[in-house]
Amino acid sequence: MKTTEKTVIAQMLEHRSIRSYTDEIVPAADIEQAVAAGQKAATSSNIQTYSLVHVTDIEIRTAMIEISGGQDKVRDCGAFFVICADMRRHRLLADRCGVPCEQNVESFLLSVIDASLFAQNMALAFESLGWGTCYIGGIRNNLSAVQKILSLPTDVSPLFGMTVGRAAEEPWPRPRFPVDTIMHENGVVSDDVVLAQCDAYDDLMREYYLNRGASGRTWCGQMERFFEVPKRAHLKDFFEQMGVRWR
Ligand SMILES: Cc1cc2nc3c(=O)[nH]c(=O)nc-3n(C[C@H](O)[C@H](O)[C@H](O)COP(=O)(O)O)c2cc1C
Repeated sequence: MKTTEKTVIAQMLEHRSIRSYTDEIVPAADIEQAVAAGQKAATSSNIQTYSLVHVTDIEIRTAMIEISGGQDKVRDCGAFFVICADMRRHRLLADRCGVPCEQNVESFLLSVIDASLFAQNMALAFESLGWGTCYIGGIRNNLSAVQKILSLPTDVSPLFGMTVGRAAEEPWPRPRFPVDTIMHENGVVSDDVVLAQCDAYDDLMREYYLNRGASGRTWCGQMERFFEVPKRAHLKDFFEQMGVRWR
């Protein structure tokens, strides 16, 4: 390792989502390198159930702004990707030799886990090359529109987007829970301890919110209501249309 290079862990600990970008385009060589690094993530039984759509068409990217709830960065970043769970290869191979391709909750989990591990490896690779990244779950506001606009066939289901580009901001890193809040030995802690740990996390978050000009905000306060109403309840129907089965 050259002395100027960061360790992998130092790179990971520096992570923060970047939401404002310069107009610099991410070069093809960097994209290829980061995607190849992403692909080296572990994959269940080497099934590699994912595909990546590099969205270069400015009209499509502009349409994605509205789909993702007004996130201009989808158009303004240096590269925009849609990460998809992809069972099409497996279905086509099964069709070709005349056997069923049985989809169920396990196959859905496999494809989502595989796609997510790939995406996070890719994000880290981009960060190590000096680019900022931000996941865009906002595209799940309307996955049917994403599917149509990208002409995605059955069994290729968009999951989330990712913006990549040169940072035009230096956001404060968002603190995570202390390690002992999420790591346990031979089991997990009691409900009382969990609630006390959540309250303790708010002490950590106070300074972060203060620096973002949102003093008075608390993590517990936000999370208390996070799942009050079912989120994106249309997704079950969408994924069923794309071939996913819940058995
Ligand atoms: C699957 C996923 C979807 C996300 N969707 C969005 C999004 O649509 N817009 C956005 O600005 N950030 C999005 N984020 C970024 C998170 O808000 C961010 O990772 C989290 O608040 C922690 O902050 P940090 O990444 O700066 O540490 C998403 C993150 C993940 C993992």
